[in-house]
Amino acid sequence: MSPIIWDVGHIAHFEELWLTQNLDGPIEFSEMPGLYNPFEHPRATRASLALPTLSQMIARLEEIRARVLDRLDRLEWDNDNPLLEGGYVYNMVLQHEYQHNETILQTLQLKKGEPYSPPLSITFPRRPISAGGMVAFDGGRVTIGTRDRSAAYDNERPIHEVDLRPFIIDRNPVTNGRYLDFMADRGYQREELWSDAGCKWLAESRAIAPKYWSRNGDRWMNRSMNITRSVDATRPVCHVCYFEAEAFAKWDAKRLPTEFEWEAAASWDPSTQSARRFPWGESDPSSANANVDQLSFDVAPVGTYDSGISPIGCYGMIGDVWEWTSSDFNGYPGFQSFPYKEYSEEFFGSEYKVLRGGSWATRPGTIRSTFRNWDYPIRRQIFSGFRCAQDA
Ligand code: AVJ
Ligand code: FE
Repeated sequence: MSPIIWDVGHIAHFEELWLTQNLDGPIEFSEMPGLYNPFEHPRATRASLALPTLSQMIARLEEIRARVLDRLDRLEWDNDNPLLEGGYVYNMVLQHEYQHNETILQTLQLKKGEPYSPPLSITFPRRPISAGGMVAFDGGRVTIGTRDRSAAYDNERPIHEVDLRPFIIDRNPVTNGRYLDFMADRGYQREELWSDAGCKWLAESRAIAPKYWSRNGDRWMNRSMNITRSVDATRPVCHVCYFEAEAFAKWDAKRLPTEFEWEAAASWDPSTQSARRFPWGESDPSSANANVDQLSFDVAPVGTYDSGISPIGCYGMIGDVWEWTSSDFNGYPGFQSFPYKEYSEEFFGSEYKVLRGGSWATRPGTIRSTFRNWDYPIRRQIFSGFRCAQDA
């Protein structure tokens, strides 16, 4: 991870780059300046950079923000400028900050020594936990992605049609309870459940449980920030990597969904033959329908958000945990990089797996049914879980 002060500086300089320089600038967009360029300075090297102090950095943020607001006051809306069409570049900068907000929480959760004490602002409403089991998707032609150019990232376009085979998919993300069954059935010890790459990761990591889990006598505990308690069987498992998700699915005689199956299960309404922006409809995510926005600092018992159910009946598709899919991160047919290659295109290929749906640490402004996240299949510090699917 980066020192948090780097993320803060990177947020500010990204804002300066796109909302001053590149808005005024030539056709060729300029690049991020030295210190805060993520490609010039990969994560592992950022701790040794000569970074400003917090008070210097805050002064820098304020100075940049003042220029950005001044520029916004003088803005002439020019819909021929693709950066301005639908206010895109402003939405992009906002979403960029939101995404780094989640990254900062990963860093705080990783922190050794004194844990971070979050300001707890919400507790979950008490609702009956959701029934388990799987729900059916009949298959057929669906639309994937979006034509939106005001907020969606380039990797969510173009909208295109995909034919899906009938499948069934877990109603809820896999819970700690089910994951404990997998562990008790020697899931981490049985090589036949793990892919070749999964076996390699298992041998190197010597993992026997999700990250942030520990033993206390004969029970398992897990930690979220400064709170350690016994693992709650009714909540989604969190902090597992792709290989753990894959092994669990095999143990359960299932598989991970593709990202298209996931998107259809989250958004496709068979009765109208159209996709919803969110599982529940078109209104923005809030604490009423999803566990999002860094408010709860934990995953919620499955069933807590019964107003957030998708058309086919899936719970918790948005919020709680990012869900691993079986898909590699690639461009959709006809993909065009916009506005810069280093957001998506640089990462296309088989090194990364797609995650969908956002977590409790995701800001609502940067999640929707079409949103695609990606990470290395070995990553566990992200707020990641999964649900399983099966051919019908
Ligand atoms: C989409 C979360 C993989 O953090 O690397 C932040 C988001 N891109 N700054 C990342 C991002 C540029 C990106 N992920
Ligand atoms: Fe960034």
